[in-house]
Amino acid sequence: MADVRRLIILILCALLIFESIILLNAGFFDKDVLDRINEGYKNYYNSQSDDETIEENIETNEPVEEEEDNNIDHEDERDKLDRLEAEERGLLILVNKQNHLDPDYKPDDLEPIRYFASDRSSATRYMRAEAAEQFHKLVEAAREEGYEIVMTTAYRSYGFQKILWDNYVAREGEEAANRFSARPGQSEHQTGLAVDISAPSVNYALTEDFANTDEGKWVAENAHKFGFIIRFPKEKEHITGYLYEPWHLRYVGEKVATRIYEQGLTLEEYLETP
Ligand code: DAL
Ligand code: ZN
Repeated sequence: MADVRRLIILILCALLIFESIILLNAGFFDKDVLDRINEGYKNYYNSQSDDETIEENIETNEPVEEEEDNNIDHEDERDKLDRLEAEERGLLILVNKQNHLDPDYKPDDLEPIRYFASDRSSATRYMRAEAAEQFHKLVEAAREEGYEIVMTTAYRSYGFQKILWDNYVAREGEEAANRFSARPGQSEHQTGLAVDISAPSVNYALTEDFANTDEGKWVAENAHKFGFIIRFPKEKEHITGYLYEPWHLRYVGEKVATRIYEQGLTLEEYLETP
């Protein structure tokens, strides 16, 4: 009986030695292999804890960058949709020295403007419906903060613009006029989306001084919230073709206006961006 027990122990010892040889050959006790196994456990436990995952992200940066890329992609996508939507609503029409309107172009949804300087032509007190509504909201919001803003001219027909242009040329010469007045067919006032504004503090004049009044400052900081941009910004004559006009607002819709405002662009630059 003692012999049989000894034989079993011997067989068990032989099996143990045999298994150890196989595991050693498979590299089971290699430091690398053990490290990799440990790493696996560590990753598993990290994935169970948000805080630790964030710490790891800060260390490696990779997942955070991926997230940032996703955000930028989403932002780009949203901008493109906003732009498409504004285009479909006909709000991004570009009129300048290179892009003209037909003499008979006239928007079919012009609505009267309520807040105007009474000494200017009543024929120009109109804007396209959405722009008119938003302009009223802008004026009313300014009023609530104690600022009086009115329009001087908004929609101008081709014929009206021709009278203005001819007068300016007669008074100041063509070269000078070309820096501050559009030729007929080249003024976005004809789109019904532009409006010139002023305030009692500058005697309702269209002057650069308007930019330094409280009303002018308020408009520069808030017009985009109502969908308007300052169409001819300072020092952008080489792009827009016109001198600084802090009084000339153009309606493009709130989302596009906000984008243009935040990025300090002109409409030309915004529309050129793919
Ligand atoms: N003053 C701007 C350029 C216009 O005449 O439309
Ligand atoms: Zn204007």
